Amino acid sequence: MTLFRSHIKIAHDFWKKILTAGDCAIDATCGNGHDSLFIAELIGPEGKLHCIDVQESAIENTRAELKYLIDMSHFHLGSHEILPPVSPKLIVYNLGYLPGADKSLTTMTNTTLKSVQNALEIIQPGGLISITCYPGHPEGKTEQEALFQFVSEISNIKYIVSTINWVNRPFSPSLIFIESKIN
Ligand SMILES: C[S@@+](CC[C@H](N)C(=O)[O-])C[C@H]1O[C@@H](n2cnc3c(N)ncnc32)[C@H](O)[C@@H]1O
Repeated sequence: MTLFRSHIKIAHDFWKKILTAGDCAIDATCGNGHDSLFIAELIGPEGKLHCIDVQESAIENTRAELKYLIDMSHFHLGSHEILPPVSPKLIVYNLGYLPGADKSLTTMTNTTLKSVQNALEIIQPGGLISITCYPGHPEGKTEQEALFQFVSEISNIKYIVSTINWVNRPFSPSLIFIESKIN
């Protein structure tokens, strides 16, 4: 067992730290709903979870995954540049394409950047934007480079930004965390 466990486990540990029952959260790339379920269980039936994906099958899979937590969940079929008009505690991006599905339906640099810009406007003070990048495919590499550049220029008065990347494994997923400061 290495000290640095899987990127998913690391991201989930941060979400666990930030979320409490009754919070509002957005899963901006809900895919098969595994991350959505993890979040829904943390915020519980009094919470509000918004799940976004461009693929109808992803929305359906997420609905099925959420089972008993379906009533606190809202589903948005479309691109995440448009975020629901809420002020969430957590916004999650697990970028790239669904493993085993159509690889051409991947997140794209320009729309991801627009969405993250919009996420900065709505995230609650004290809240977290969590982004997982997959540089192992060409668009994912471009997307990661653009995001690293973008987040390095975000105001340090309003946000704290940190990244985790495995520098001797350039194709491994990387993580970006943007914490919105409490004024
Ligand atoms: C790596 S998968 C997400 C996995 C998911 N979080 C889970 O737990 O199963 C990436 C997802 O992003 C979706 N996606 C691609 N472009 C998008 C966009 N512009 N807006 C929202 N979702 C998008 C894909 O359809 C795919 O389902």
